[in-house]
Amino acid sequence: MRNENHSGASIGCVINGAIMNIIITGASAGIGFALAKLYAKQGVNLGLIGRSSEKLAIISAICREQGAQVVTAAIDVTDTEALKNWLLAFDAQFPVDLLIANAGVTSIMPDDGAGESWAAVSQVLDVNIYGVFNTVYPLIEPMRQRQKGQIALVSSLAAFRGMPISPAYCATKAAVKSYGEALRGWLQQDNVQVNVICPGFVKSQLSDQFTQPKILIMSAEQAAKIIQRGLEKNNAVISFPFPLDLGMKILGILPAWFVNWIFTVLNYSAKNTV
Ligand SMILES: NC(=O)c1ccc[n+]([C@@H]2O[C@H](COP(=O)([O-])OP(=O)(O)OC[C@H]3O[C@@H](n4cnc5c(N)ncnc54)[C@H](OP(=O)(O)O)[C@@H]3O)[C@@H](O)[C@H]2O)c1
Repeated sequence: MRNENHSGASIGCVINGAIMNIIITGASAGIGFALAKLYAKQGVNLGLIGRSSEKLAIISAICREQGAQVVTAAIDVTDTEALKNWLLAFDAQFPVDLLIANAGVTSIMPDDGAGESWAAVSQVLDVNIYGVFNTVYPLIEPMRQRQKGQIALVSSLAAFRGMPISPAYCATKAAVKSYGEALRGWLQQDNVQVNVICPGFVKSQLSDQFTQPKILIMSAEQAAKIIQRGLEKNNAVISFPFPLDLGMKILGILPAWFVNWIFTVLNYSAKNTV
């Protein structure tokens, strides 16, 4: 099997017997990296996407060492055409059983009280919304045709209640959650499973940018195991850890003044310059 680091890659299959074909975006770091490691074994064809070829080479070597066949692609998920072409080429060779739309970025209020810059807002909207739609959309029809497949969209517990510390990020995660829930309702008639993943704090470069208290933070490896179990059970929403999940859901139904007071106490509120 060849390993190509560009879109439109030529892909050759050498595995016989039971095969599982999995694509993970954002596989070069954090949760995606841990998921790739967890799924990598003999009989698995992995398509791993990220922007950094160097980081993809690291995860690819680990996964091959564990017996998986790996194809990597250094593609920005906001590049609709490049991503679509690569996904369809991969799917034509390895009909995708599991697609995990995980790549994401965050935007956090700066300490100086200036508010989110438009550059940060537009990047988080592009990657977390268009990037996820760009990943999922091209494979919906092939999976419907086959009447088989599973699509997992990585959202966040931040989807359950907007937090003043990261308004644009929370909005993108709510959008992804809503899209996944709607897709699940639509695609169940075609035997395509759709799952929304809502992690709490997970140790990664992304969460390192958040300097406030990270309640019940866990490792990416722990998170990946919970996600894998939830996907095996085909849970509609895989949200964790339980206490934080419950807490965010309760915040979602409490009066806004009270919730905003809690966010202020937790230091999850934006700094105010006026
Ligand atoms: N960590 C948390 O506490 C937490 C909590 C809830 C939800 N999540 C969600 O979990 C997902 C993964 O986050 P993480 O914590 O693992 O973050 P991370 O360690 O920063 O990893 C992010 C991954 O996404 C990739 N990526 C970012 N922008 C991309 C783009 N434009 N095109 C292609 N790939 C891109 C990165 O690839 P390159 O490095 O190669 O660019 C990297 O592989 C995100 O959707 C995040 O919102 C994380």
